Amino acid sequence: MPDNTDWDGFASRYDRIVRLFDRAYPEVRRRLARDLDGAEHVLEIAAGTGQFTFDLADVANEVVATDYSREMVEHIRARVSERGVQNVRADQQSAYELGFDDRSFDGVFCANGLHVMERPETALAEMRRVLVPDGVLIVPTFLHGAGRFERGLSRTLSVFSSFVAHTRFSLDQLGSLVEEAGFDVTSAEELPGLFPIGHVVARRTS
Ligand SMILES: C[S@@+](CC[C@H](N)C(=O)[O-])C[C@H]1O[C@@H](n2cnc3c(N)ncnc32)[C@H](O)[C@@H]1O
Repeated sequence: MPDNTDWDGFASRYDRIVRLFDRAYPEVRRRLARDLDGAEHVLEIAAGTGQFTFDLADVANEVVATDYSREMVEHIRARVSERGVQNVRADQQSAYELGFDDRSFDGVFCANGLHVMERPETALAEMRRVLVPDGVLIVPTFLHGAGRFERGLSRTLSVFSSFVAHTRFSLDQLGSLVEEAGFDVTSAEELPGLFPIGHVVARRTS
């Protein structure tokens, strides 16, 4: 797979920058522990530097953390060995073409990935393919289209950075996209932050 040089260049600065936007992260962590507790095989997509990877590893038997940026994946691998964590593997993978068999995970987690992807519907189709029927999908996503303030802020930030948002989702748009991809949405909440996070939990329809 070709390296994604844009996100590669961002990897070393990512953790510092994300602090501006991470107010809702503790709530995301609380919810993933609730919804994935006891899961066997969890796939993380667009894992970045691993902000949530080790929270997933605390509750699931096995975690495969993926991202299409080679440097992001290297970051996670370094953290895995620093921490001596045994149940996490990091793999360079595009969300549009996952190298996993159908129905091979009982949980899929993708935080703050769908809004930066050009084809979020393709990524959701892949997430559905690799999930077992009734498997859990969790997609906490920054809502750059939550309201006028967020849309304005998103447009302003996009002048300075190319990584802001490809889709400026509202919570309703995010929930509808997940449903159209073949999931039953079990909860959809807006968690407050500079950009609120749309916290959508869903199950794969059979
Ligand atoms: C905003 S960061 C989110 C990282 C992490 N999940 C978090 O919440 O901190 C978005 C990540 O999505 C990855 N990404 C973007 N498009 C992708 C794609 N098509 N396939 C896989 N990863 C992608 C980028 O490399 C980047 O690491």
